[in-house]
Amino acid sequence: MSAKQSATSGFQAVEKVEFPWSKSGNAPAAKARFLRNAWYVAMFSSDLADGQLVRRTILNEPILFFRREDGGVAAIIDRCSHRMAPLSMGKLMPGDRVQCIYHGLEFGADGRCVKNPHGDCNIPKAAHIKSFAVVEKHTLVWIWMGDKPADPDTIPDYSCLDDKPELHVTQPGYLNVAANYELVVDNLLDLSHINYVHAGILGNADTVAAEVEVQQEGNTVTVSRNCKDAETPGILKMMSSAEYERGDQWNSISWFAPSNLVLEFGVSKQGQPKESGTGYFAIHLLTPETDRTTHYHYTAARYNVLTDDEKNKKIRDNIYEMRTFAFADQDVPVIEAQQLIMDQAGDSVKPVLLNIDAGPARYQRVLNRLIDAESN
Ligand code: FES
Ligand SMILES: [Fe+2]
Repeated sequence: MSAKQSATSGFQAVEKVEFPWSKSGNAPAAKARFLRNAWYVAMFSSDLADGQLVRRTILNEPILFFRREDGGVAAIIDRCSHRMAPLSMGKLMPGDRVQCIYHGLEFGADGRCVKNPHGDCNIPKAAHIKSFAVVEKHTLVWIWMGDKPADPDTIPDYSCLDDKPELHVTQPGYLNVAANYELVVDNLLDLSHINYVHAGILGNADTVAAEVEVQQEGNTVTVSRNCKDAETPGILKMMSSAEYERGDQWNSISWFAPSNLVLEFGVSKQGQPKESGTGYFAIHLLTPETDRTTHYHYTAARYNVLTDDEKNKKIRDNIYEMRTFAFADQDVPVIEAQQLIMDQAGDSVKPVLLNIDAGPARYQRVLNRLIDAESN
């Protein structure tokens, strides 16, 4: 796709697309197809303290993370080459080395086996293990899972998290979702569900009829659902004043391949420019753990904060609590139930396409194309 392009607006037809997640548990396509040459969020930077060994399964691979002595992050496969013991059960040694708990082989931050304490101390070539490119950026730890060179410049722009006053960013949130990551992306790019699943908190009856607009720029898909002169949803009322009881709402979510998203959610006084209002960037970071489970990291950064610091601490905690409730108690139960139902279906299920599916259909086309290109 070339330059910025409006794909769907209002009630135009939705493109036909294949949704790989709709294959049943027994179908060959039920095994998730992952884009490997891409940046995924492994964790928040604050999740990895000096001296710790942290294990995460990402794209079905066990990975061990630790900080080098220079403060940078290393990632190696969490599987000793001798008898496959998890290295995360071992010990971090001076010199950025991990010692296996079982027979003491030691591995460097680049995955090379650097010590065999037994016999002639010979280190067979096959003892070396895989390492991964890791970059810390925007307060997040990013990992590159593919074999092609990793370019840190292609990490999605989450600069809205950089250098923010502490009171303007919510605490790091994490959920483990028992569903394929694409079902979660599908949920986030369909802003219409807000008015039903999250009625009162994130949406309300006024916002149901808002026009959906889908735009694509390169491989980034943005779905907007803005509405004028509408009742302000509860979470935005909470961070503004009585003058914002009604207003113009901005609700626009961008997807960066393969599975990271940012939603701009805000309100301005009726007829006033967006910049004059207030709101937050809602950060959604999805990383496939396995075919059927997803790491869901989330946080939010307020913009154009109009309240004073005394209120801001309460607002920050409220945003975190309301969003955690919306995801953990409202979205995730539906998504996990969808996954179960589809796995029970036995045969492929075929999702019906509605106008509201323009965003999910567009992102799915882009992702399918990227995954197909990688596997050819
Ligand atoms: S399993 Fe790691 S040294 Fe034997
Ligand atoms: Fe939701």
